[in-house]
Amino acid sequence: MGLAYACFIAVAETDQTLADQCFFALCSDVICEFPLRDMLKFHQSQKAEGTILVTKVDDPSKYGVVVTDETGQVERFVEKPKTFVGDKINAGIYVLEPCVLDRIELRPTSIEKETFPLIVRDKRLFAFTLPGYWMDVGQPKDYLFGLGLHLSSMRQHNPSELAEGSSFVGNNIVHPTAQIGKDCRIGPNVSIGIECVIGDGVRISNCVLLHRVKVRNFARMADSIIGWGSSIGRWARIENKSVIGEDVHVREEIFMNGTIVLPHKEIKDSQHDPGTIIM
Ligand SMILES: *[C@@H]1O[C@H](CO)[C@@H](O)[C@H](O)[C@H]1NC(C)=O
Ligand SMILES: *[C@@H]1O[C@H](CO)[C@@H](O)[C@H](O)[C@H]1NC(C)=O
Ligand SMILES: *[C@@H]1O[C@H](CO)[C@@H](O)[C@H](O)[C@H]1NC(C)=O
Repeated sequence: MGLAYACFIAVAETDQTLADQCFFALCSDVICEFPLRDMLKFHQSQKAEGTILVTKVDDPSKYGVVVTDETGQVERFVEKPKTFVGDKINAGIYVLEPCVLDRIELRPTSIEKETFPLIVRDKRLFAFTLPGYWMDVGQPKDYLFGLGLHLSSMRQHNPSELAEGSSFVGNNIVHPTAQIGKDCRIGPNVSIGIECVIGDGVRISNCVLLHRVKVRNFARMADSIIGWGSSIGRWARIENKSVIGEDVHVREEIFMNGTIVLPHKEIKDSQHDPGTIIM
């Protein structure tokens, strides 16, 4: 889990100036139901300096475990515990008071390893337990799996946002600006982005199509990610954790089996061996 792509969101629900307000810090390679309001309420009720979202895991020995008392106050962190100390791990989403920033020295720092222990010492760090699913989606296969979990959660909480119709099987999400041709079979676990155009007789399962992807008639895709503005030719077959970069054009009848394609390419030959990278 990296904080490399973190963004900061100021919380503007009070009359205080921004500099006085607590804010969220999120690792952007995780997915969950994001209970940010409930987390903020908990943070404020505990008068915490920092609140960490934690999630329960089956095998805590592989992770850094967050040990708390019954009020949720963090007592310590145990990296890859050999004996059972708890089963809640850091889910990578924090609410922080601005004074946390004063604890960070001006040099590359790990907030988890260096800053949080200082707040624990002052008994001002709390943990809020995430309801529902959580997944680190930093790898393509995990990203696809996380999509499935997210769509199952949508089926439970906002079923009206899922795609409906005779072309769809299982849980799928389709942007309203996307066009879908005749006699397609889409699903389960598919996400189709803004202004995608899907031809006739196309089959797609367990895939993410980012914005403006064009899929020509009778193409077939499974377990793969297709980048922005790319196109997939007629009768092409893309499968087995292929990842197609932005602006890649796959010619007709091409087969790709677990192929990684970097952006701005035209693909004229089939790739049968999984793990091939086209640069
Ligand atoms: C879709 O995702 C759900 C949730 O992870 C999973 O249970 C199901 O097996 C997936 N379906 C397919 C066909 O991968
Ligand atoms: C998918 O690729 C993996 C290697 O990454 C390979 O072991 C497996 O046989 C392939 N599966 C299919 C269905 O082609
Ligand atoms: C994809 O590659 C795997 C591993 O080489 C192979 O077993 C599988 O048959 C291939 N899939 C197809 C559909 O050719």
